[in-house]
Amino acid sequence: MLKTLEDNVVFRVVRTIAAGGMGSVYEARQVGAAGFEKRVAIKTILPEFSADQRFVDLFIQEAKLVADLVHENIVQIYQFGFSKRHGYYIVMEYISGLTLAEFIRLTAATHTRVPEELAVFIVSRIARGLAYAHTRVGRSGLPLNIVHRDVCPNNILITTEGLPKLGDFGIAKAATQAVATRGGKRSYMSPEQATSGQVDGRSDIYSLGLVLFEARRPAPAGSTGRPSTRASARRSAPSSSACCSATPSSATRPATGSPTSWSTASTIRATGRPW
Ligand SMILES: Nc1ncnc2c1ncn2[C@@H]1O[C@H](COP(=O)(O)OP(=O)(O)O)[C@@H](O)[C@H]1O
Ligand SMILES: [Mg+2]
Repeated sequence: MLKTLEDNVVFRVVRTIAAGGMGSVYEARQVGAAGFEKRVAIKTILPEFSADQRFVDLFIQEAKLVADLVHENIVQIYQFGFSKRHGYYIVMEYISGLTLAEFIRLTAATHTRVPEELAVFIVSRIARGLAYAHTRVGRSGLPLNIVHRDVCPNNILITTEGLPKLGDFGIAKAATQAVATRGGKRSYMSPEQATSGQVDGRSDIYSLGLVLFEARRPAPAGSTGRPSTRASARRSAPSSSACCSATPSSATRPATGSPTSWSTASTIRATGRPW
């Protein structure tokens, strides 16, 4: 009987999609036997992060947790690897399309907003992915308590077929610890996350609410909609810290993204639109 199967997998990099932040994202081809090729995305981790043992430990721990997340609204992770030359890397499903952040900027270019039904559709599908992740249990039947921690327009990818998918699952926990002292992304954080409190699935739902707000916010006067730098994108994002005092505590907010607690789903049903 087959016990183990060892193979050296080769990835041929096609182009750099993005560089910066924690590392780089590449489009690549996973090369198999007899000319088999599969398009994948590879995320590498910057050496400065790879050298931080606390970050690496958290990163590995989370990568293992999310390895089995298989849902149409979550970017699937195929492999977590280590190469002597390039350090830790993640191989994931390649998404041909654009991010919600890019889509918001494109609509702003024509001084319009993301249409209401489309914004609600995107957010409701991401809510489905979150509901799935939040309710995962381990082999022992105990909840895995998976929290994304970085639900934001940059991490929502929309395929050319129109399917919204949440990326970067399992990365934020390590990233937020590592960048805690470097001023990480705070714009979409729930009050409890922004104040380094205990977070659970409700925190992601809060962030998703801010994403919906951002998608439907009128374009600022004079906006060109040109792709902005990350810094200016952050400046224009809603601020959870500004919302803190007016925000109900997490105890009174929806606990999951499931359709029963997420009212956008009823909007979808009411409109009867498939997208
Ligand atoms: N699985 C993927 N397939 C295709 N493109 C991706 C994928 N994951 C990320 N990207 C692209 O790479 C960019 C950078 O991603 P990332 O490193 O996660 O930075 P950030 O989330 O801070 O924008 C994203 O904005 C997106 O355009
Ligand atoms: Mg990302």
